[in-house]
Amino acid sequence: MTVVPDLSLSAAEFTHNEFEYIPDPFSFYAKMRAQSPAYLSERIFGGAWLFFGYADCLNLMKDERLSNARADVPLRFLPPEQRSRFSDMISVYERWLAFHDGQEHTRNRRQANRSYKPFTDAALEPRIQGLVDGLLDSVDPGGFDLMSEFSFPLPAMVIADVLGVPVEAHAELNRWTDDIAHLFGSTQVSVEHLERTRRSTAELTEFLASDECRRHSERQSGLLHQLRVMEVHGHRFSEEDVVAQAALLLFAGVASIRYLIGNSVYAMESRPLAERQLLLRPDTVGPAVEELLRFCTPVQFVGRVAADDITVPTQSGQDVLIRAGQPMLLYVASANRDATCFERPDELWLTRPEPNRHLTFGAGRHLCFGDPLVRQSTRIALASLYRRFPRLRVTSPDLNWNNNLGFHGLTSLLVDPQGTAAGR
Ligand code: HEM
Repeated sequence: MTVVPDLSLSAAEFTHNEFEYIPDPFSFYAKMRAQSPAYLSERIFGGAWLFFGYADCLNLMKDERLSNARADVPLRFLPPEQRSRFSDMISVYERWLAFHDGQEHTRNRRQANRSYKPFTDAALEPRIQGLVDGLLDSVDPGGFDLMSEFSFPLPAMVIADVLGVPVEAHAELNRWTDDIAHLFGSTQVSVEHLERTRRSTAELTEFLASDECRRHSERQSGLLHQLRVMEVHGHRFSEEDVVAQAALLLFAGVASIRYLIGNSVYAMESRPLAERQLLLRPDTVGPAVEELLRFCTPVQFVGRVAADDITVPTQSGQDVLIRAGQPMLLYVASANRDATCFERPDELWLTRPEPNRHLTFGAGRHLCFGDPLVRQSTRIALASLYRRFPRLRVTSPDLNWNNNLGFHGLTSLLVDPQGTAAGR
């Protein structure tokens, strides 16, 4: 299968919130890789560079001249005098290690890595399996919505469990982190959405800072507690930093894993039933999950800003001048479909020869912190689903996509677990 570029989709009109680009961004990406792999969009953030090719995305993610101090980029559409209304919310995001550069990033990432050490695959396996089984035990075997009954609650429960905060809060955690994800996954949001995100950010941080969460996490030796007590080379996170990093982990993990599970089940629908066995066998599940990560990634892009004026050579041979402060959007989901790196790039090929060099988790110093947890949760979720319901079929008459392209995924997906109803 080859994705045919949809030439009617215009680069000048492209944003993350135009519906015509959301259901199938891949034909737009194919056009951009062929015609304008580096493109200056006047519509996005008042002038942002968009990159669609594999080599450009990889090189730019590793380019230390670029900065990740981009917490305030989503506010760029507001007149400067209105931005200060949201400074309390932005000050939480500015503490996130994801938005730090250089030595500050190294120190904070090391601190977080050490805090995460006890959460090995072996320690988490039975806990994640228990949460997956609990959710699958309660679905209606006659038919259910995979997203609302399974894919949405699961990641919030898994990350709450790792943090050591009450998993029963999963619905609120989804709501709060969804508002934050919409802010960072969009290229323009309404002022009303900003107000809502500000409230959600405050409620999330109040929850994480509460005595209830503190005590709960301490009892369970959860990650929230570890972040609080961990000292590396004489440095500890302040209380505000602890809460902000925990909020980052929830936002980054909840908004992404849920769509990855949904996108994977939807993509598997077009494959022969027998291929589900690849997800059930220890010798094939690893490469199969890697391929689902490449093909189905919900995270479409990684952002950067130029710290100074810089010139970057691009894979098309063109040199591009980036102005200081200008945002850059590196479309990793497009890079994952680049034929210069992947054979049969538009095919979900579960036995794709390794190594699968997808950019789903980024590259360089900001490589995803949660990648082992994503691989493990996705493996357990899909294997458990197909072991229990080997003939499961998608029955949704229409697909409902999330309303921003940054986090690409379905908001509902009706399934017939026995596979007896007529498929789509
Ligand atoms: C499908 C799931 C996920 C995908 C596709 C994904 C993707 C990514 C990508 C592309 C980056 C690099 C961003 C950059 O270069 O600026 C990143 C960073 C990060 N991710 Fe994930 N992520 C996922 C799940 C998670 C989970 C479950 C967690 C935590 C529990 C997490 C925590 C983080 C953190 C903290 C960073 C920032 C790392 C740093 O700047 O050093 N992510 N993720």
